[in-house]
Amino acid sequence: MINDDNSTISNWLDLLLYSTIRCRCVDMLIVGGSASKTISQNLSKVMNANLAEVNSKRFPDDECYIRIMTDLTGEDIVLVQNTYPDLNIIELFLLQDAIKEYDIKKLVTVIPYFGYGRQDKKFNEGESISARALVKRIQVQSDAVITVDLHETSILDWFDIPARNVSAMPEIGRYLRQFNIDIVVSPDKGAAELAELTAKTLECPWDYLDKTRIDSETVKIAPKSIPVEGKRVAIVDDIIATGGTIITASNQLKEQGCDSVIVACTHGLYTGGAINKLINSLDKVISTDSLETKTSEVSSAPEIKSALLELL
Ligand code: R5P
Repeated sequence: MINDDNSTISNWLDLLLYSTIRCRCVDMLIVGGSASKTISQNLSKVMNANLAEVNSKRFPDDECYIRIMTDLTGEDIVLVQNTYPDLNIIELFLLQDAIKEYDIKKLVTVIPYFGYGRQDKKFNEGESISARALVKRIQVQSDAVITVDLHETSILDWFDIPARNVSAMPEIGRYLRQFNIDIVVSPDKGAAELAELTAKTLECPWDYLDKTRIDSETVKIAPKSIPVEGKRVAIVDDIIATGGTIITASNQLKEQGCDSVIVACTHGLYTGGAINKLINSLDKVISTDSLETKTSEVSSAPEIKSALLELL
């Protein structure tokens, strides 16, 4: 009898411990910037956290006006806003400023698409290191930062505050399960890690192609002895901008005899109307909610949640 009682108490304690770990609830409010509305809503759902009411508008001269209508006092705040296009960078700074007017606990700035991430070094003498310039200003009014598939994760080293990068690739991999993908490929060595992450979720092989950039719209992709004949291939990349990389990679794989090509990226930038070119020339293209487009079929919110639980 005594043993039974003890084991009941022990079961209850286990259950309590399990629930504490599983349901670690973090009280927080999410402030969604106008560049990141959908992902803020998705994050609010997965975190079970409320969205603060924000009144933002543009004056006739395009200057930004910000007013946070919800009382943020005493809360942990998660601000979600892209640094793209340029006007949204200013909106991010104004949101941080308005948030810091309240006596809050901590401000974590989530930047789903970190604009200027591709200018992370001086390619020519006299150039700005644009990614670093943004880092230095973003951290002034933030306690921690989260990015999603940052083009170069070494950019995080410039932050003097805790900074984490999460990848949308496990979520993309889960989405791709329905297409019975045989192999995941990245268009260049730089994105090989993304292919590996996606393939891990899909439990399939992965590889990368050899890309040479000719100019901002043209790339050359060398044929590689990847066994793709008759296979369903997924090509993954962090960014699709002009679409030049992904279309060339897809054509190369088709020439090598693959059965179908599905393209997935984290950030569907789609410059200069690339979206229509991509939809017309690819079997399927998907992206995440870091940038809101008609191909945004996957959310990075679950991955951001994991990083937030570590930081708050
Ligand atoms: C480059 O290193 C990136 O990972 C992307 O492959 C690149 O930004 C894609 O650009 P585009 O679509 O213009 O070829």
